[in-house]
Amino acid sequence: MLRKFFSSTAEVPQASAIPRHVAIIMDGNGRWAKKRLLPRVAGHQQGVERVRDVIQACIEHGVGYLTLFAFSSENWRRPKEEVSKLMELFVMALEREVDKMHKNGIRLQVVGDLSQFSPQLQELIRAGEAKTGGNDRLVLTIAANYGGRWDILNAVNRWLAANPEVEQIDEARLTPYLSMAYAPEPDLFIRTGGEQRISNFLVWQLAYTELYFTDILWPDFGAESLAQAIAWYQKRERRFGRTSEQLLER
Ligand code: IPE
Ligand code: IPE
Ligand code: MG
Repeated sequence: MLRKFFSSTAEVPQASAIPRHVAIIMDGNGRWAKKRLLPRVAGHQQGVERVRDVIQACIEHGVGYLTLFAFSSENWRRPKEEVSKLMELFVMALEREVDKMHKNGIRLQVVGDLSQFSPQLQELIRAGEAKTGGNDRLVLTIAANYGGRWDILNAVNRWLAANPEVEQIDEARLTPYLSMAYAPEPDLFIRTGGEQRISNFLVWQLAYTELYFTDILWPDFGAESLAQAIAWYQKRERRFGRTSEQLLER
């Protein structure tokens, strides 16, 4: 397997003014709905609308990779009705959006343990990825039934199965097996909804990512909010272990 991108721990990456990869935990849908005395699912519906705006804004900024956490491996713990509504919304969004994405040059990827989804949803995902596979304007990754720990263990197990005779694994050998091996590590992580935690998102890949937390609830997050997050990102000094003085020398 070919390694296309550098690892932030194996070498010092070149930081760019516009984040190449933005990863977002879209949180706060339930609270948005509650504030309006609406059922939680209304918040999720509104959340899907925001996804479209943020995709467009990313394209305008020149972001190459956008990764959205849609459903965590722990979200199965929610009430059954909410889980099935979320699945329905996922199906509807794929049915409605894949053609438009394709026309806009977006490549869709879905990462996570998809085996737990209905055959219909799995087929929609497969077809969407196949249809858009040749596009390169923006790589949109939806993390669904995704967990960072699952990702690492899955990679280790797949590596072990492919290399039964080798005794030790190292970073360069492991990373091609991680589910997002096709993308650079995220430069900018955004979590809406006010919580300051990773919630088992990309635990390996976020090692050197700039972490941005905002109280804005996901259904209220739009192009302007994204621009603010990018402006914040541009003020960060990405040292990757070095000193400020060393950065000035370059
Ligand atoms: C995020 O919003 C969407 C999913 C986890 C699917 P929440 O549903 O977690 O909203 P809050 O955190 O309850 O407000
Ligand atoms: C994280 O949000 C997962 C997604 C946004 C899909 P949660 O709302 O599930 O996170 P916790 O449980 O509050 O940490
Ligand atoms: Mg939440």
